[in-house]
Amino acid sequence: MARINDNYLKLQAGYLFPEISRRVSEFTQTNPQSSVIRLGIGDVTKPLVPAVLKAFHDGVDEMANSATFHGYGPEQGYNWLAQVIIDKAYKPLGVDLKPSEVFISDGSKCDSANILDIFDLGNKVAIGDPVYPVYNDTNVMVGRSGQMNDKGYYDGLVYMPCTEENSFNPDFPVENVDLVYLCSPNNPTGTVTTREQLKAWVDYAIKNDVVILFDAAYEAFITEADIPHSIYEIEGAKQCAIEFRSFSKTAGFTGVRCGLTVVPEELLGTTSKGEKYSFNKLWNRRQCTKFNGVSYPVQKAAAAVYSDEGWQQTKEIIDFYMENARIIREGLTEAGIQCYGGVNAPYIWLKTPQGMSSWDFFDKLLNECFVVGTPGSGFGPSGEGYFRLSAFGERENVETAVQRIKEKWGK
Ligand code: MLT
Repeated sequence: MARINDNYLKLQAGYLFPEISRRVSEFTQTNPQSSVIRLGIGDVTKPLVPAVLKAFHDGVDEMANSATFHGYGPEQGYNWLAQVIIDKAYKPLGVDLKPSEVFISDGSKCDSANILDIFDLGNKVAIGDPVYPVYNDTNVMVGRSGQMNDKGYYDGLVYMPCTEENSFNPDFPVENVDLVYLCSPNNPTGTVTTREQLKAWVDYAIKNDVVILFDAAYEAFITEADIPHSIYEIEGAKQCAIEFRSFSKTAGFTGVRCGLTVVPEELLGTTSKGEKYSFNKLWNRRQCTKFNGVSYPVQKAAAAVYSDEGWQQTKEIIDFYMENARIIREGLTEAGIQCYGGVNAPYIWLKTPQGMSSWDFFDKLLNECFVVGTPGSGFGPSGEGYFRLSAFGERENVETAVQRIKEKWGK
């Protein structure tokens, strides 16, 4: 008799974004004439830029010729891609890494879930609330939690509320923990962790022997000077942090799939015998066993993001999305809706008008404005009464969505 992993049954509903899609497709089936604007899931709408597309095509053409064909690549990714990332994305920040510390993958969602393989189940984990649902749900799936309690929290996990009072930056956990997830620029609140705040986290982690899982998937959207793009800009972070990055939103790779995880060689954990051991070696072992690497043409395309031409074209698209963010933030603020984020991140976190619940606002927005967003409560109990709008969309759609919201709720 094959028993199931009962931990999955602890998860209350479907994963947030498929659940939203389900509700939207139900709505569009019954209202086929309505022009629905989707600002829910953070999915890019602009195509790959020409320099990246060319490299992608070249990579495919190489696969068509036995002299240039590539079979299995290194499980960790090609060295030349790791080196380009180090030279173009980390060195300008004053961060020096070795290619052996950079692991290329099919995305930061998968990595931030898979990383749990190299941590003992007995580790205590702290996550923000609200938070990118993957951190919470994957810890439930591996069995690190009990059931969900009546407040919407899973027993056994430690939650760090991110509220208006703490400007959506979590306070240190009150109890002892071993792992802390941080995400900056933050999904869903669109807010950022400042250099001083990040330094305080690194100091806390070193002092308390904590590993920080730092999700920097949206770092390319930072517009303000002196906001850290990488946790390794902070002294000592290589001893206490793993960083995730992604080409998904940065370069339109949501359907192409490429990301990376940095596991510094200095980062050590403790074995059951009390000896120190390298997390880098464990992650390497894990990837070699469970992953066969990202396809060659995709890695060629990813490297082209950092060519001079590729980056200039990519940056134009990032700026385009950030102009959308400005239009949403300013438009909604004019309508008297309290907004956060949207300056260093492609997400706007708004307080629902008239104290509506997040899902009530979702339904109202969909039914009356034909606009799709993401209910804040889907990201955790402290997200109740909030709502997330994504800046990924075509300009006309973004402007129309803002107009419809203003007409409905404007003062
Ligand atoms: C989001 O909308 O939060 C993201 O698109 C989800 C993801 O990146 O997996």
